[in-house]
Amino acid sequence: MLPSLTQLTKPLTLGILGGGQLAKMTAHEAYRMGLRVAIIEHGEDSPAGVMTKLEFPGGWKDSAELERFIQASDIITLENEFIDPEILDVIAERRLVFPSPQTMRLVQDKYTQKLTMKGAGIPTPEFAEITTKEDLVAFGQKHGYPFVAKTRKFGYDGYGNATIKRETEIDMVWRRFMEGEDPRPLLAESFVTFTKELAVMVARNKRGEIAVYPCVQTIQQGHICVTVLAPAPIEDHLQRRAQEIAVACVEAIGGVGVFGIEMFLTLADEIVFNEIAPRPHNSGHYTIEACHTSQFENVIRAVTNMPLGSAKMRVPAACMINLLGERTGSGVPDSVIEMLKVDDVALHLYGKKDVRMGRKMGHLTATGATVDEAFARASEALNRFVW
Ligand SMILES: Nc1ncnc2c1ncn2[C@@H]1O[C@H](COP(=O)(O)OP(=O)(O)O)[C@@H](O)[C@H]1O
Ligand SMILES: [Mg+2]
Repeated sequence: MLPSLTQLTKPLTLGILGGGQLAKMTAHEAYRMGLRVAIIEHGEDSPAGVMTKLEFPGGWKDSAELERFIQASDIITLENEFIDPEILDVIAERRLVFPSPQTMRLVQDKYTQKLTMKGAGIPTPEFAEITTKEDLVAFGQKHGYPFVAKTRKFGYDGYGNATIKRETEIDMVWRRFMEGEDPRPLLAESFVTFTKELAVMVARNKRGEIAVYPCVQTIQQGHICVTVLAPAPIEDHLQRRAQEIAVACVEAIGGVGVFGIEMFLTLADEIVFNEIAPRPHNSGHYTIEACHTSQFENVIRAVTNMPLGSAKMRVPAACMINLLGERTGSGVPDSVIEMLKVDDVALHLYGKKDVRMGRKMGHLTATGATVDEAFARASEALNRFVW
């Protein structure tokens, strides 16, 4: 029998593997709901680590530190999909951990992930496992150029991706990923010519209850998400189709928690799966201000097997814009004064110590009567934000 909040005689402690912004925003909701939070991360004073006395800065690779973290936690979840499934197995012997190690095994490796989705009847780009340089040449010959090579594991914000435009570029990509000290196995996928990138958040608890958020449009620059428009400006039948695919993806991996499903809308108005994140997702940050239950509250409800909250929007439209680093140095911005004068915009700063070019330091969410209005408001606030 799974423990639930009402069965526990002491406050429930939610353990989170990872202490970044996703853990921080989850912790905010956890405290509001009367829970305690334990954070394990490599290094002190992470965005979520500073919020709690239950901070374990030795990280999960230190088995004694992991043990102390497990002891302190009643239920464990994660904000980082790159944790070794063997470590999750160790945790799962002692505590409830969601998403399960099994789900994580299906998701962590982008090749296994795509095979699983394809096997469940979900539309994907053409893709193949790459073990030799010749496999890349063969993929280009079969599916044409450009195509995308991706590292099977540890890719995020586009860092593991390379678009290959012609056969002569294969050598360079092979060297970049495969000939260093730490070779990173690849998959190849056909390049999808999309009109929009879409994303849907899905929460699912152990009982299989599901809450599906509206489909949003995500706008990437240089493979990193910069803007989210909610709801996506697409026709209703495409909204429904994106939600249907997203739910099928979560069911295909037996997911418990919240999941962000990224998709492409093609020129032919077809929706094709890109990837799934087994955790709160950048495309769902708007849910804090714009939905009845945020993705962060619903991940807590899902992993503690509580009833899920409504994923409906409580405003007509919202726009989220990431605050990406524009310099190096201290993570504290120079001024937010002018930005704070814009109405109906919420500022989120993650409290990262250092800023780097392109690093996600925070975000702004504007609400409005229309997506255009929310976008204009968020853009105005961004222009007034000074690094
Ligand atoms: N097959 C593809 N065709 C076209 N663009 C792609 C493809 N795969 C990825 N991209 C672009 O790269 C971005 C990042 O790729 P993704 O696989 O989502 O990696 P990450 O894990 O870094 O988010 C996508 O949001 C999209 O803009
Ligand atoms: Mg992605």
